[in-house]
Amino acid sequence: MPITLSRQQQILHQSPIRYMSIACARAGGINMAQGICDLDIPAEVAEGARQAIADGFNIYTAADGTAALKQAIAVKYARHYGIAVEPEEEVLVSAGATGAFYAAMLAILDPGDEVILFTPYYGYHKSTLESLGCRLKYVNISLEDHTVDFAGLQKALSPRTKVVVINNPLNPSGKVFSQDELNEIGRLLAGSDTTVVSDEIYEHFVYQGRKHIPISTVSSLKERSIIVSGFSKIFSITGWRIGYAMLPAEVKKAAVKFNDLVYVCPPAPLQTGVTKGLAAITMDYYQNVAAEHEEKRDLFCAVLEKIGLTPIIPEGAYYVMADISLIPGNDDREKVMHLLDRTGVAAVPGSAFYNSDGRTDMARFCFAKKMPVLQEACERLERRLPV
Ligand SMILES: Cc1ncc(COP(=O)(O)O)c(C=O)c1O
Repeated sequence: MPITLSRQQQILHQSPIRYMSIACARAGGINMAQGICDLDIPAEVAEGARQAIADGFNIYTAADGTAALKQAIAVKYARHYGIAVEPEEEVLVSAGATGAFYAAMLAILDPGDEVILFTPYYGYHKSTLESLGCRLKYVNISLEDHTVDFAGLQKALSPRTKVVVINNPLNPSGKVFSQDELNEIGRLLAGSDTTVVSDEIYEHFVYQGRKHIPISTVSSLKERSIIVSGFSKIFSITGWRIGYAMLPAEVKKAAVKFNDLVYVCPPAPLQTGVTKGLAAITMDYYQNVAAEHEEKRDLFCAVLEKIGLTPIIPEGAYYVMADISLIPGNDDREKVMHLLDRTGVAAVPGSAFYNSDGRTDMARFCFAKKMPVLQEACERLERRLPV
């Protein structure tokens, strides 16, 4: 008799991002589907980890991460944003932002709890919440002008709303929440006990002089907000699995139990690498990363515009949603496959970021590629499109 699989596993499906990455590898194409940042890893980060391994720092750490890394994260928030964070009480280091989000959500949500998610969404948020049995409601963020449907949010909120999840800057459309918008979320939640969970992993990727605003700086949300972020993107270490959550002390105590249960601890020597990196890297580094990606954004968006794949200019993160209506195909899945066949450039169908009634005329491209690769992608698109 074969092993019977759980009902739970049926909730999860292979993500279109992974699917397109596999199709791209098979076609030997340029993978603009997956959100891997092609920066070089900072030397201090790599050397810190190498040294830690050589020094024998290869055993379990505390379940919530090393004291040194929690402290370094607190210092970063004080330096960048003027926020005081208590490292031992309020910082949880986990297996990437993904692990931090999972542990934090397990700490505050029960099956049947109501959660509001904005569309377009980051697929892991939806899948995590669904796997926990939450009831999801969706509120739209306009692709055309990045505005939030606040009337929709007000309508969706109910006394049963336990959590509102935002992603700022937003993968896939690149929306960056303004101070007014974050204040408005705070205003709508005033008097409730709804928690705002903000995934801020692209905090350093903001363009045209915009400033990233952490959710916990909104005074009315200070006690009821959780920030999730990490180092995968900014240090180009997606495979290291080091991220964190900053959460109220009581929530952290609960989240640590799950972090311990699922991961035991984040990878020991890699925590040291990140700690060394945080200490050594100056503000210039972050500014240069933003400037470099702004240049790539502008280059790639200009080409999309030229060939008729009209882009939604992102304000942050390193993805762009573009209109693929002119590419042959019955829906966006067929269109991105056609695009891959014809140009060797892989993108993600836009419907991957929506619930069932979402759009099917868009695709997401990741422009965080090394310049020669990005240029090659631009050339291929220009040469072989429009179709
Ligand atoms: C919004 C968002 N959050 C989290 C992650 C994953 O972060 P990590 O590698 O730290 O788990 C990604 C990666 O694409 C992302 O886009």
